[in-house]
Amino acid sequence: MNMNITKILLLAFFTTNLLYADIIASDWLRPNSVPTPYDNQLSDKRIELGKLLYFDKRLSSSNEISCATCHDPKLGWSDALSKSIGHDGAKGPRNSPTIINTAYQEHQFWDGRVKSLEEQALGPIEAEVEMNMPLKKLIVKLKNIDGYVKLFKEAYPESDITKETLAKAIASFERTVLSTESPFDRYVKGDEDAVNKDAKDGFKLFRNKGRCTDCHSGFNFTDGSFHNLGLGDKDKGRIKTRKGVETSTGEMKTPTLRDITKTWPYFHDGSVKTLHEAVAICGNGGRFTDAKNLSHLIIDRDLNIDEIEKIVAFLRTLEGKDLDISIPTKFPR
Ligand code: HEC
Ligand code: HEC
Repeated sequence: MNMNITKILLLAFFTTNLLYADIIASDWLRPNSVPTPYDNQLSDKRIELGKLLYFDKRLSSSNEISCATCHDPKLGWSDALSKSIGHDGAKGPRNSPTIINTAYQEHQFWDGRVKSLEEQALGPIEAEVEMNMPLKKLIVKLKNIDGYVKLFKEAYPESDITKETLAKAIASFERTVLSTESPFDRYVKGDEDAVNKDAKDGFKLFRNKGRCTDCHSGFNFTDGSFHNLGLGDKDKGRIKTRKGVETSTGEMKTPTLRDITKTWPYFHDGSVKTLHEAVAICGNGGRFTDAKNLSHLIIDRDLNIDEIEKIVAFLRTLEGKDLDISIPTKFPR
C-alpha cells in the first residue's frame, strides 16, 4: 500500500477513536441558565405563586387533583402509572411524562403539539380526563380567594388574575424543576470514581454501537425531535399536514433520560416496566420491525444481554438527588 494512504488511514483511525474516547463535559452538563420568554421573566414571587398553584387541588373541579397528582416530585415528577388517572378515575390516553427539564424543551407533550410551558399549562386544567375545570370558572374561583388576589398582584402587578397570568405563574415554577447533579455529571467533569466500569462501558455503547445518541443527545438526552419506535399501538402521535391533509406519523418526542430510574413505566403508552426492555426495544430494531412509519434510525444494533446490562448501568448513573424543594402544605385562603 502507498505510504501516504497508510498514513491517512492510520490518522483517520486514531482521530475517530480519539473522538469516541474524548468526553467533552460541556456536551453533557446542564447549562446554568434556563430559557425564559421575554414577557415572563423569572422572579421569586412568580415561582412561589406558581408552586402554590401547581400543588393546589382546588384547581380541579373535584378539589381532588392537582398537577402534582400526575407529576409528583416523589415519583420523579411523574406518577408511576402506565397511563395517567385523572378526574373521576378517568384513564388518560398516555403515560405522564416527568416535568424535569421541560423548561429546556422546544415542544411539550409526547406529540409536541404545544411549544411553551405557558401554552401547555392550561390544557390539563380544562381536560375532562385530567382536572376537568373550565378556565372561566377557575378564574372566578381564584378571584374569590383573597390570598391569591394578593399573590397575583405581587407577581404580576400589571395584570389581573387571568388565564395568561395563571399559566405564566405555573410555567415559572416549572422552570425551577430541573435535574440535579448525578454521578454521571461528576464523571464527565473528571471524577473517574463517580461511576463504575460497567457504567463507563455502557456510556460508550450508548454512543457507539447502540447509536442511542442519534436521538438521545446533549445534557437532557433528547434531540427534541420525533420518532416512531414501532410500538404497535394505535396512537397517532405527531400529526403532519400536507396540502391540508392531516396524516398520523405515530412519532413521539424523544424523552429525557435524566432520572430515568424514577419515571417507570416507560414509553408514551407506559407499556414497558423495566429499563432492560426499553433499551432492547430502542437498540434492537423497535418492538415491531415491520411497523408502519418506523424510524429509519431504529435499526437492530445487535446488542447482547451483557451490553444491554451495561447500558442500563450507565442509565442508572443519570439519577440525581431529589430536588430540594419544600412542598406547600398550607394554601392561600
Ligand atoms: C391526570 C393526570 C395529569 C394532570 C392532573 C396533569 N398532567 Fe401534565 N401530563 C399528563 C399526561 C398524560 C401528559 C402527556 C400527554 C400527551 O403527551 O398527550 C402530560 C404532559 C405534561 C407536560 C409536557 C411534558 C413533556 O415532556 O412533554 C407538562 C409540562 C405538564 N404535563 C405539566 C402539567 C401541569 C403544569 C399540570 C397542572 C396544571 C398538569 N400537567 C396536570 C398528565 C397529567
Ligand atoms: C430513533 C431515535 C431513538 C434512538 C436511536 C433511541 N431512542 Fe430511546 N426513545 C426514543 C423515543 C422517540 C422514545 C419514546 C418512544 C415512545 O414512547 O413512543 C424513546 C424512549 C426511550 C426510553 C424510555 C423513556 C421513557 O421515559 O419512557 C429509554 C430508556 C430509551 N429510549 C433508551 C434508549 C437507548 C439506551 C437507546 C440506544 C440503545 C435508544 N433509546 C435509542 C428515540 C430513540
